Amino acid sequence: MRSDANVSARGIVALDVPALEDAIALLARLGDAVGYYKVGLELFAAAGPEAVHVLREAKKSVFLDLKLHDIPNTVGRAARAAAGLGVDLLTVHAGGGRAMIQAAVQGAPSARVVAVTALTSLDPRDLPAHIRRDRPLAEWVLDLTEEALAAGAAGVVLSGAEVAAVKARFGADCLCVVPGVRPPGAAPEDQARAVTPAEALAAGADFLVVGRPVTQATDPLAAWRGLWSEIHSQEGRR
Ligand code: C5P
Repeated sequence: MRSDANVSARGIVALDVPALEDAIALLARLGDAVGYYKVGLELFAAAGPEAVHVLREAKKSVFLDLKLHDIPNTVGRAARAAAGLGVDLLTVHAGGGRAMIQAAVQGAPSARVVAVTALTSLDPRDLPAHIRRDRPLAEWVLDLTEEALAAGAAGVVLSGAEVAAVKARFGADCLCVVPGVRPPGAAPEDQARAVTPAEALAAGADFLVVGRPVTQATDPLAAWRGLWSEIHSQEGRR
């Protein structure tokens, strides 16, 4: 377990909301407790770059999770436009291949490009047809990570279950961003490989992405604080 005094600084709230007003309301409710937000497909489709501008004006770090996956030229140009918005992290799909990831990295030199490996919603027993089902999911994640790093990506998006293997193979500098984070005992919803914040951090995760457990809570601030209480109580017992 890492002994960061302020472990919640590693948390990123996924603003998966239908409109900019909902994002602004959440931002107000969470205040100084959250410094890093993810803008994903729903909010970007609804509000576009304005969603990023609002976060930048509020002095928040921004993870733009567009999961780019297209021909290298298109992805490179989209990455350039995204970087121009001032985002800190940007996603591409690792499955797009080395040239595509390289194009994103070259297009967005001011952002850290991370490649999405196996979606955390994928259940190892129920993999899509394009994935070899005779291999453990973790091996597939390691292969995709190798390719992403060779293309210049800063790291990968993966489940907490695969972080330790990725860090062991590629070293601490490979940025590991973990979605599918749930407090102990919470419903996983459509996340098949969910982990708790303590598990993800113990495995070596650099950032944890948390959406519905916070954004759909009746008291988002209390839910956010509750997420880290497991870790703080473990540290208190040491
Ligand atoms: O609500 P929940 O905490 O499940 O949200 C997880 C967020 O992380 C969503 O915005 C989803 O798009 C994103 N994500 C994911 N799995 C990945 C990559 C991104 O769940 N592999």
